[in-house]
Amino acid sequence: MPESSRQPDTPLYLQLYQRYRDAITAGRLRPGERVPSIRNLASELHVARGTVEMAYQMLVSEGYLVTKGAAGTRVSPQLATLPTTGKAPQRRKTSVAQPNQTRLTGNILPFQPGVPALDAFPRKIWSRLSAQTLRMIESTVMAQPDPAGYAPLREAIATYLGISRGIACTPEQVFITIGYQGALELLCRTVLQAGDCGWYENPGYFPGRYFLQQMGMTLTPVPVDNEGLQVATGEQRAPNARFAVVTPSHQSPTGVALSLARRLALLAWANQKDAWIIEDDYDSEFRYHGHPLPALKSLDHEQRVLYTGTFSKVLFPGLRLAYLVVPPSLQLTFHEAVNHWPGPGSILPQAMVAAFMQQGHFARHLRKMRQLYAVRRGYLVDALESIFGSSLHIQPQAGGIQVLAYLNERQSDKTLATAAQAAGLGVKALSEWDAETPQQNGLLMGFTNFASTEEAQAAVKRLSVLLSS
Ligand SMILES: Cc1ncc(COP(=O)(O)O)c(C=O)c1O
Repeated sequence: MPESSRQPDTPLYLQLYQRYRDAITAGRLRPGERVPSIRNLASELHVARGTVEMAYQMLVSEGYLVTKGAAGTRVSPQLATLPTTGKAPQRRKTSVAQPNQTRLTGNILPFQPGVPALDAFPRKIWSRLSAQTLRMIESTVMAQPDPAGYAPLREAIATYLGISRGIACTPEQVFITIGYQGALELLCRTVLQAGDCGWYENPGYFPGRYFLQQMGMTLTPVPVDNEGLQVATGEQRAPNARFAVVTPSHQSPTGVALSLARRLALLAWANQKDAWIIEDDYDSEFRYHGHPLPALKSLDHEQRVLYTGTFSKVLFPGLRLAYLVVPPSLQLTFHEAVNHWPGPGSILPQAMVAAFMQQGHFARHLRKMRQLYAVRRGYLVDALESIFGSSLHIQPQAGGIQVLAYLNERQSDKTLATAAQAAGLGVKALSEWDAETPQQNGLLMGFTNFASTEEAQAAVKRLSVLLSS
């Protein structure tokens, strides 16, 4: 459970019980809806199974949940008289199929960063959901899609964020967008204006930087160190900036987490200046040691944080589905804005992701992927250590889906990455993420699609030949 959203004086099981009870009474979890298994939820929140068990037992004994053996635990259908925030889609009972294990990486290059393990994507479940969605999607939604996004998906996201990221929000605050850039575009058409100045992490996610610049924003690079964004430097360089773009859970690309002291300093600056913080929580789901880090948004008492998340890392980038959570005070402005917009794309993938979440597949998929990535990360790190030894320094990272390895000063990461790409390897140069003179040379390497230690060793050997030539 996110640490910042934990209340030290209340036992964890009680906090979890309260979150579920609140979600049920507020109608965010609806009668009959399945909740994650004890095992999945304990793994998701990094708490002991006993903690979830106790919370669930209380919820069952008070009539909020019912357990039905193999059919899992569900919100009690008896609660159907409680007020709900949306109409429950009708669902048929389905059996749980195993993910398709066929290796379908096609032309994904070895080391390609930012791509999930496509061989482990549950294609069978997905194809079943696709047929189900087409059979069952409501005709009103087919005729008049909500420009803010498919309502059950927004509900599922609000519930997921409440439980897994400590973010209390309603579905009305959630907007589905076409990728992260869709969320940025929506922000540029609402709270930001061309000419506005913003802080941007350096090194930082360059597609986001280019996009904001194209939209007319003036970006001030703010350096990142081992505690994340240097807030004090931001205040010196651009004290009156209107916004700051940050990746607090897992800085892109260095992987460091924004320290609590810096989080509080950033929020204090935003509160004082009435500035916006754009939190990009792109791959926080993947963490292999310790507790999942809380979202910065969970500390946002003054409502200065505009939170974004994406399905690109947890499902696949081709879905082009991301989301934005706005403060309640801006809800109306955003609903009005999206009314004049092309919208978040087809409702079909949105409805499929909603069903994937509501039927418990999402929590299961995340748990499986975390376990798989911990193993695959090990393949790559072991291969790098055994083949490169001390000539590469691997940045310790508790999460994410790529490894950052620093080169020594004499080696140019751009030259090496260009040669590697010409040789069919997907490594990327760290300096590409830099808007100023790069301070360090490094290589970013994806590990998610290395299915064995042999594959990782073979790819690292090919890379080592380039490095030594
Ligand atoms: C830092 C960062 N933010 C956001 C995204 C998500 O982008 P999208 O939702 O457009 O796929 C990515 C994807 O690579 C990323 O690396």
